[in-house]
Amino acid sequence: MTGFASNLIERLASAGNVAVLTGAGASAESGIPTFRDPGGLWSRFNPAELASFEAFRRDPIRVQSWYSARIRAVLESEPNPCHVALAELEALVPSVSVITQNVDGLHKRAGSSNVIELHGNLLDVFCATCGRAAETLDVAPDALEPARCECGGLIRPRVVWFGETLPADAYESAVSATARADVFISIGTSGEVYPAAGLPRLAAEAGAYVLEINVQRTPISGLADEVVLGAAGIVVPQLLSEVRRRSNVGVS
Ligand code: OAD
Repeated sequence: MTGFASNLIERLASAGNVAVLTGAGASAESGIPTFRDPGGLWSRFNPAELASFEAFRRDPIRVQSWYSARIRAVLESEPNPCHVALAELEALVPSVSVITQNVDGLHKRAGSSNVIELHGNLLDVFCATCGRAAETLDVAPDALEPARCECGGLIRPRVVWFGETLPADAYESAVSATARADVFISIGTSGEVYPAAGLPRLAAEAGAYVLEINVQRTPISGLADEVVLGAAGIVVPQLLSEVRRRSNVGVS
């Protein structure tokens, strides 16, 4: 017995298009820290000193070594049941778009085929001067020299820093997937960082049924048709199995 409205299960089982927006909470059960929870990254580190181009120019070793540690954590992590269930939803719904603010690549590793990475990807590293792709970024905090490209430029991850704009093609894809969604699911995001945080409202205004899954209420909760409080790694697989059961009943 789960707490989902039967209306939601019906809508998902008959949906043509589902859009999912994920935030750091979707990867929390893979051991990747969130940003704004107690103990999260932004409670321990100052974003202005690590996630901006000015900080990178001022102290590249500090910024590169912080991202190197995050890259290592991602390489050591595995997709969790939330990522896997979203990938498996593709067998039940004609079109599933996963719009993610996460930079860990775990949705693709779990097998989701249409992933829109709004904030980039940590594993994609490149030269900030000439744009050439670099193999890796692996800098220790006590390194004497920052990682450089052959051209002398500094290596950085392709993630969106404060003061930078989102990749235009990713944002356009996210808006169009949101606008055509029959069901829009927000999972594990605090809903505080725009423009991603504006997508649930856009979905609601375009007529989608909006479901939020989070361990606590957020600014998105008030506009959602349904809020399920619980861990993504538990709730999303439960949702998948309800939809699977409903779809099988429909077939027989
Ligand atoms: P936040 O850290 O702001 O929010 C994480 C959300 O996940 C919170 O609402 C938690 O309640 C929820 N949560 C935690 N564990 C969960 C679990 N197991 N299951 C479900 N929910 C859980 O992270 P984001 O909303 O992703 O931007 O943050 C948005 C952006 O802010 C990030 O992409 C990053 C950051 O600055 C950039 O780096 C550009």
